[in-house]
Amino acid sequence: MLPKSQNITKIEQRITKQDKEKLLGQKGAVYWMTGLSGSGKSTIAVEVERILYEQDKLVTVLDGDNVRYGLNADLGFSEEDRRENLRRIAEVAKLFAENGIIVITSFISPTKASRKKARQIISQSSDFHEIYVKCRLTECEKRDPKGLYKKARTGEIKEFTGIDSPFEEPENAELVIETDSENIDKSVQKLLEYIKRTSITTV
Ligand code: ADX
Repeated sequence: MLPKSQNITKIEQRITKQDKEKLLGQKGAVYWMTGLSGSGKSTIAVEVERILYEQDKLVTVLDGDNVRYGLNADLGFSEEDRRENLRRIAEVAKLFAENGIIVITSFISPTKASRKKARQIISQSSDFHEIYVKCRLTECEKRDPKGLYKKARTGEIKEFTGIDSPFEEPENAELVIETDSENIDKSVQKLLEYIKRTSITTV
């Protein structure tokens, strides 16, 4: 997106991404999780963050529900709002990753186009990894941790992903975690190993 004003000039920073990565002993990158509500994205993200923290690694989790309380409090769940939600998140994730931080994002990101857009924004300066947290709708609905599927079925909530709003399955995710057939520990280990292989042991 082009800036609204033409009277702006980027400053040249003195400390580079590489300087900060050296300081932290890790590579700044974005692990972009996508999957249905209730698929396990947030649970996996916060546990991986905790384990890496214990190993002196700096991770931040950007989570759908949390970000919608603050930065994106003005957005709902229409197609347009979801697009804007994910565009802003991609820009924020990019800022963190440019500072050497490992970012795990936890948003449904239901459309191929919005995930492609996030990849475009972030991969200008940092590695982007798409992580598909795969879980059958029937299983997510059975779990229904926030009682939202129930409300969506009765029509109390509209435009709910998987019910009356689409979820387009990723076809080229770098990693697929299957939470309806693996236990939580296995899913956490899979993401952990993947992050270590791509952002920690490679520094
Ligand atoms: S996204 O589609 O724009 O990527 P996001 O991940 O930010 O969605 O928010 C999803 C979370 O908001 C869900 O986990 C759920 O708790 C809550 N939510 C509330 N209304 C909806 C809805 N209509 N569709 C999906 N999730 C909803």
